[in-house]
Amino acid sequence: MNVLHISSSIFGDDGNSSKLATHFLERIRELHADAEIVTRNLAKDPVPHLDADTFKANITAADQRTPEQQQLASTGDQLIEELQNADILVFSVPMYNFGIPSTLKAWIDNIARAGTTFKYTENGPVGLLGNKKTFVLGARGGEYFGTPMDTQTPYLRTFLNFVGITDVEFVLAEKLNMEADKAPQIMAEAKAKIDELLSS
Ligand SMILES: Cc1cc2nc3c(=O)[nH]c(=O)nc-3n(C[C@H](O)[C@H](O)[C@H](O)COP(=O)(O)O)c2cc1C
Repeated sequence: MNVLHISSSIFGDDGNSSKLATHFLERIRELHADAEIVTRNLAKDPVPHLDADTFKANITAADQRTPEQQQLASTGDQLIEELQNADILVFSVPMYNFGIPSTLKAWIDNIARAGTTFKYTENGPVGLLGNKKTFVLGARGGEYFGTPMDTQTPYLRTFLNFVGITDVEFVLAEKLNMEADKAPQIMAEAKAKIDELLSS
């Protein structure tokens, strides 16, 4: 079993979303001793923002690319290969300035590739990644779930569905700053929800 963890907290292991992911990965190791876990830390090693040359290189067939295009497409190639190899995806997602971290958006821009992760058909877009059990572990200072200000949940669900990933569970630790005195309890509840999801 291959697990891919995409992390994006600027606080590294101290981030609340990272702590949820650490808990998640500990449980996975208990349940599946043979699990191979790959972590891509987007805050520590950000992937470049997409530009026009890279976009063109990405959608050019590998055997048609110039050496320069091969180089430009190599980041996306590697990110997509990691995704294709994963059976389980786990995203630890902080809320920064009302959205997902910009590093995570850059990752998304690098892996959305027509002909590889999705394709257009006469019946509309079709995702090509194949379904993977996916967990989004979110940490937020305020409370947004179920309101129009939750820019993360619908966006991530829409994007993941677009590339073919429809089995997505969200675990959100909200109000971590708004009700800071209750933060330990909020985190404990989120970890209990992770345990519940992994045991089912
Ligand atoms: C730069 C920055 C921007 C933030 N913006 C928001 C925000 O817009 N809404 C919110 O609810 N919390 C906001 N917060 C609080 C974070 O969501 C909270 O600290 C959460 O724990 C971040 O996840 P992390 O600890 O995994 O990095 C912000 C925190 C930082 C550092």
